[in-house]
Amino acid sequence: MITIKTDHEISKMRDAGKIAAEVLQLGGSLVKPGVSTKEIDDQIYKFIKKHNAVPSFLNYYGYPASACISINEEVIHGIPSGKRVIADGDIVSIDVGVLLNGYHADTARTFGAGTISEEAKKLIEVTKECFWKGIAFAVPGKRLGDLGHAIESHAHANGFSVVEDFVGHGVGTHLHEDPDVPNYGRAGKGPRFEKNMTIAVEPMINQGVPDVLQLKDGWTVVTKDGKLSAHYENTIAVTDGEPLILTSL
Ligand code: MF3
Ligand code: CO
Ligand code: CO
Repeated sequence: MITIKTDHEISKMRDAGKIAAEVLQLGGSLVKPGVSTKEIDDQIYKFIKKHNAVPSFLNYYGYPASACISINEEVIHGIPSGKRVIADGDIVSIDVGVLLNGYHADTARTFGAGTISEEAKKLIEVTKECFWKGIAFAVPGKRLGDLGHAIESHAHANGFSVVEDFVGHGVGTHLHEDPDVPNYGRAGKGPRFEKNMTIAVEPMINQGVPDVLQLKDGWTVVTKDGKLSAHYENTIAVTDGEPLILTSL
């Protein structure tokens, strides 16, 4: 069931979203060669706690950290570790959720460490563009299939592929709510957007094949061909006009 939020609920999600955006910015500022993903996660945990909020992911189905930090061929759900040290040229996806006053906000970005390849830069840029192309359709009367189709078309036009095994989602009092928000779809199909729907739109775009595998740690999702993957996620609210980015600074 898709829950439509009140304006008051959306303002609470905006409060959570602001902290999520700030903590993601902090995480991104720490992405440098020689830094472990655990060091970044520790800072993220401290920042969220300092703001009297709760990390949405910690203990979610047993997830052991505050953020998911996924490097290069890792698509999503990378578990922070002191043994995982960032190297020059890596691309590092940080995904973080914040729970404040009963409402979640969920956001992710891919950051470059040191000097990254032109191809990696292009992948990161196109993934961001996919998000914006998609949310242009997150307006009343348009449909989820329009959003997914726009994302998929832009990825393919740039020679990249779309992860289909994981999708965006509704968000609110639960981290994951209805509806599913796929990064692919058919124009004119699927549920219609309505004012005050809140969703996390999160293209996961691959350099090579769309296929992914899950590692034996039970979490980390990697590309099947070992090529790079990038992620770009914001929690948004549908309005009468342009969508409102709740996870902005
Ligand atoms: N952040 C993921 C999402 O964007 C969910 C992570 S859940 C966790 O939907 F348990 F892996 F942290
Ligand atoms: Co997320
Ligand atoms: Co999400």
